[in-house]
Amino acid sequence: MDLRFTEEQLMMRDMVRSFANDKIAPFVEEMEKGVFPRDILAQMGELGLMGITVPEQYGGAGMDFTSYIIAINELSRVSAVVGVILSVHTSVGTNPILYFGTEAQKQKYVPKLASGEYLGAFCLTEPSAGSDAASLKTRAIKDGDEYVINGSKVFITNGGEADVYIVFASTNPEAGAKGISAFIVEKGTEGFVVGKDEHKMGLHGSRTVQLTFEQMRIPAENLLGEEGEGFKIAMANLDVGRIGIAAQSLGIAEAALGYAVDYAKERVQFGKPIAAQQGVGFKLADMATAVEASRLLIFRAANLRAQGLPCGQEASMAKLFASKTAVDVSIDAVQVFGGYGYTKDYPVERLFRDAKVTEIYEGTSEIQRLVISKNLTK
Ligand code: CAA
Repeated sequence: MDLRFTEEQLMMRDMVRSFANDKIAPFVEEMEKGVFPRDILAQMGELGLMGITVPEQYGGAGMDFTSYIIAINELSRVSAVVGVILSVHTSVGTNPILYFGTEAQKQKYVPKLASGEYLGAFCLTEPSAGSDAASLKTRAIKDGDEYVINGSKVFITNGGEADVYIVFASTNPEAGAKGISAFIVEKGTEGFVVGKDEHKMGLHGSRTVQLTFEQMRIPAENLLGEEGEGFKIAMANLDVGRIGIAAQSLGIAEAALGYAVDYAKERVQFGKPIAAQQGVGFKLADMATAVEASRLLIFRAANLRAQGLPCGQEASMAKLFASKTAVDVSIDAVQVFGGYGYTKDYPVERLFRDAKVTEIYEGTSEIQRLVISKNLTK
């Protein structure tokens, strides 16, 4: 595998890096207070970042998948909040329509999602259906040329802010996973109720809400794919989405490593910089090695995806390893900073809080192991 980025990919990296440093970094403190980065997303729309892999015919930038992963990675080095918003918007908010929608659905929704006029979200998880996603209870019943949807969803990233939601509901409860269908739901539909905002440990600027559907009627033409295809649509898009979350994790880990190295070079104890003391120097070496290994797993998975090859196993491995690295490296960075690392005066405590959820959402680490082990033994 050629590990060098193309000219186009390097341009994407440099452009997103500058944008993140110039426009996002000054807004990180506001996001920490819980402010959703609407204005930043609008600017990202203008730069073509809200539809990086969307073909030009649907209003996107028509770039390759690796460029998209580079963008998530670069954004997340500065703000894991912006990283997850874009990852969810693209891989599980826009792509299900792009890959499983009818031409009419694509024409209606994808250009607006790709330009950033619309934000996307994904509604699979329910109060009693998290890792066991196929046990969801939300029900969709066909009534003439409409579906009536009732149920509750939890932990919906971009919820309340998004304009378009990919909603999973059962059209045939007896059929289990094969009875689940996917629907395109617009915010503002009668019966679409935005509930409690979750007060999270980290990612404060990313909105996470509960949603309730109360006798919510949507046109039958908003069914995505065929009835009963919903679970496969969810899984196929999560396969790819997990590479995005792995890239977000990598961004967090790289940021934590960078801060730790800079601090360790400056902080003098026992007459020399702590980086020159083996206890800290070896820690930095382990952190850097894990970051590099994450990068290789992620860009290997991205490369497969970019070629249109199966990548589910590699995506799960990348997410499993990179999310653990984000947590480990950010904890180690706090340790390198000592007492200062435990305060809000330095960014490493935020990175640690932001890192933890990467081991939980888009499939917990345990689910990634399940996917990998099933693949090994099938
Ligand atoms: N691609 C396509 N189809 C797939 C698939 C995949 N990756 N994985 C499974 N399927 C198909 C299977 O082939 C099967 O169909 P057939 O019988 O026709 O072969 C059907 O789906 C059911 O498969 P399983 O029996 O394997 O399903 P399961 O009930 O055992 O569940 C699971 C598998 C991997 C555990 C799955 O439930 C899962 O991924 N759980 C985690 C859920 C998750 O990731 N949630 C994330 C929420 S979104 C989010 O977090 C976004 C955010 O906020 C950041």
